[in-house]
Amino acid sequence: MASYDVIVIGSGPGGYVAAIRCAQLGLKTACVEGRDTLGGTCLNVGCIPSKALLHASHMLHEAEHNFAAMGLKGKTQSVDWKQMLTYKQDTIDANTKGIEFLFKKNKIDWIKGWASIPEVGKVKVGDDTHEAKNIIVASGSEPSSLKGVEVDEKTVVSSTGALELGKIPKNLVVIGAGVIGLEMGSIYKRLGSEVTVVEYLDAITPGMDAEVQKTFQRILKKQGLKFIMGAAVQSCEVKNGKATVKYTLRKNDSEAEIEADTVLLATGRKPYTDGLGLADLGVDISERGQIKTDDHWQTNVKGIYAIGDAIDGPMLAHKAEDEGMACAEVLAGKHGHVNYGVIPSVIYTHPEVATVGKTEDELKKDDRAYKVGKFSFMGNGRAKANFAADGFVKILADKETDRILGCHIIGPMAGDLIHEVCVAMEFGAAAQDLALTCHAHPTYSEAVREAALACGDGAIHA
Ligand code: NAI
Repeated sequence: MASYDVIVIGSGPGGYVAAIRCAQLGLKTACVEGRDTLGGTCLNVGCIPSKALLHASHMLHEAEHNFAAMGLKGKTQSVDWKQMLTYKQDTIDANTKGIEFLFKKNKIDWIKGWASIPEVGKVKVGDDTHEAKNIIVASGSEPSSLKGVEVDEKTVVSSTGALELGKIPKNLVVIGAGVIGLEMGSIYKRLGSEVTVVEYLDAITPGMDAEVQKTFQRILKKQGLKFIMGAAVQSCEVKNGKATVKYTLRKNDSEAEIEADTVLLATGRKPYTDGLGLADLGVDISERGQIKTDDHWQTNVKGIYAIGDAIDGPMLAHKAEDEGMACAEVLAGKHGHVNYGVIPSVIYTHPEVATVGKTEDELKKDDRAYKVGKFSFMGNGRAKANFAADGFVKILADKETDRILGCHIIGPMAGDLIHEVCVAMEFGAAAQDLALTCHAHPTYSEAVREAALACGDGAIHA
C-alpha cells in the first residue's frame, strides 16, 4: 500500500492537469487510469483524433476546391483511408506519450487499472488499496443513449466508433446537430459520404447565438450536408448491415424514415462515475448524474473532490483543465479560481465557430441594454486571399459602459481569434480597449478589431 497527498482518478484533461499542478505544488501525487494510455476521452477518442481527421479532410477539400483557382494544378488527390487512420493514431500516440513523459518529469505515479473508493482516504485499484489525504474524481463522461437506438460501434456508432470506421460510408445519417454530429458529419462529407443530419430542434448547435446558427447551417448546406430539422428520432433498425432510422416530424407528427450504411448517434454525453462507489460513500449526485460540489470542487464528503465532465457545467476539455489546476491549488492551500463567465467554446468545422460570454438571446432575457458590433470577413483582406471570407465577428457590449459581454465568431481560425476577446473579458475590458489596440495587417484578427470598432464610431472596412 502506498500513501499519497492526492490521488486523482482519471487522466483526461481534467485529471492529468490536476495531477501535474498538485505535483508542481509539492504534493505527493498519483493518478489512476484504466485505459492503456493516458489522456482520457479527449486524447484517445475525442478532441485530438477528430482534429486530425478534420485537418486531413480539410486539406482534401482545399485541393479539390481551391487549388486550381490558385494556379496549383497537377495530381488529383485520392483518399487512402488506412493511411489516414494511421496518421490519426500517430497523432494520438504522440500526445498520450507526451503526458506519460510529463508524469515522469513531475514524479507522478500512474496507477494502472480502474479505481473505486472503498472509504474516505482510500482508493482501491485491482487488489491494491492506496491511501490518499485527498481524492480528486475526474472520471469524465460517456455518450448518452437514445431509446430505440442501439449502438453496436459498427453500423450504429458513437463518436468513438465514428473515428475508426472500417470504410468511408456511402450514406451517413447523423442523429443530433450538436458539436460532435457536425464535426464528424463534416469529415465524412469531405471524404465523399452523403451526410444527412437529423435534429430534434429547429436550429443547429443548441445554445449558440441565433445569427451564428443560421449562417453556420447555410454554410454547411452549401458544403453539401443535408438537414432534417424538427425531427425526433424514434428508432434505428439494423438489417444486413443497413440501418433504417425512423423519426417523427414535430410540426405535424408525421412519421418518416431514412436509410444509411452508417448511423452516428450524437445526442449528448453524460457523466461517467460507474464503479467508483460514490453512492455508498454518501456523495451527493444530481438527477442528471453529475457529482455535486461546492465552490472549491469538494463534494459533500470531506476529502473527496470532483472536476470536469463528471460535475456541472459545459463538457469541455479546457473547462476541466481549469478546474484541475484550481482544485490542485485549493489542495495546496492556495486560492484556486475558475471564471465560468469566460469559457470559450469552439466547433472545429471549416469555417470554425467560436463563442464566449453571453448571446443576444441571453442578454434580452436578462433585460440588459447592449449594443452589437459586427464585421464580415468579406472586409478582411487576408480572408479574401485565402478563400475564407464567409462568416463574421460579432461583439456584444454593454450599451452604457461599453464593457464586452460576449463574442461570437464564425470564420477562419475562429477558435484562435476568440482568445483575445477572452483575455479582454477577463480584464473587464470595454470594446473600445480592443478597438484602440493595434492589430497587425494583414491578419484575420483585424476582423475582431473591426467588430470592436463597430461597437463605437464604426468599422473602417465595412
Ligand atoms: P450536443 O448536446 O452538442 O448536441 C446534441 C444534439 O442532439 C442536440 O442538438 C439535440 O437537440 C439533438 N437531439 C437530442 N435527442 C434527439 C433525437 N431524439 N432526435 C434528433 N436529435 C436529437 O451533444 P454532442 O454533439 O453529442 O456533444 C456532447 C458533448 O461533447 C457536448 O457537451 C460538447 O460540448 C462536447 N464536445 C465538444 C467538442 C468541442 O468543443 N469542439 C467536440 C465534441 C464534443
